[in-house]
Amino acid sequence: MTKKKILAPDHNCQICPRLAAFRAKNQAKYPDKFNAPVPSFGSEDAEILIVGLAPGLKGANFTGRPFTGDFAGDLLYSTLLKYKLAKGEFKAHADDGLELINCRITNAVRCLPPENKPTGYEINNCQPFLKSQFDHMPNLKIVLALGLIGHNAVLKTSGEKLSGYKFAHCATHKLQSGLTLIDSYHCSKYNTSTKRLTEPMFHDVFEKILKLI
Ligand code: URA
Repeated sequence: MTKKKILAPDHNCQICPRLAAFRAKNQAKYPDKFNAPVPSFGSEDAEILIVGLAPGLKGANFTGRPFTGDFAGDLLYSTLLKYKLAKGEFKAHADDGLELINCRITNAVRCLPPENKPTGYEINNCQPFLKSQFDHMPNLKIVLALGLIGHNAVLKTSGEKLSGYKFAHCATHKLQSGLTLIDSYHCSKYNTSTKRLTEPMFHDVFEKILKLI
């Protein structure tokens, strides 16, 4: 049986004028780098989908793989390796051979936003790409939202009211679609350096997930 194709933005997606203009600027400035909507990483047969915010300039936007080259990726990938949700070695570049096991990583917004801040309009424009993953990942059970923007994007994409599901670190929300949404503070440099998110707190989230699958 042929699998349904998950919808992804074009390499030169023009849906969001501000993001397309920023991309053109970065393509001129860093011609050897990826500078395009960052595709999801990991199998569409996975049971777990991790939803980040958006690519970082010198991380995913440069390397073309979510959280790769970003400070946030160091904690995310070391945690995935610890819990056997990844195998190989994470070397912060897209061809390091790292493989994800039973999980896939995507972003609520696929293009690099100026100052890491996508607008509501841009987040909404990117929703069909998230929704397509919900619709075409046949084994999907758990969606892990990294941060409030990811949490809200998952809820909106699922047709849920934001008021019904309050974001809290390590909270579990049963959605009407049957998916379980789990929240975590984003593993950003800011959150880890201010200790809003510590390594044990992040590990708690994954222990919870592993109990659910
Ligand atoms: N890199 C990503 O790909 N996503 C984030 O949310 C942060 C860094």
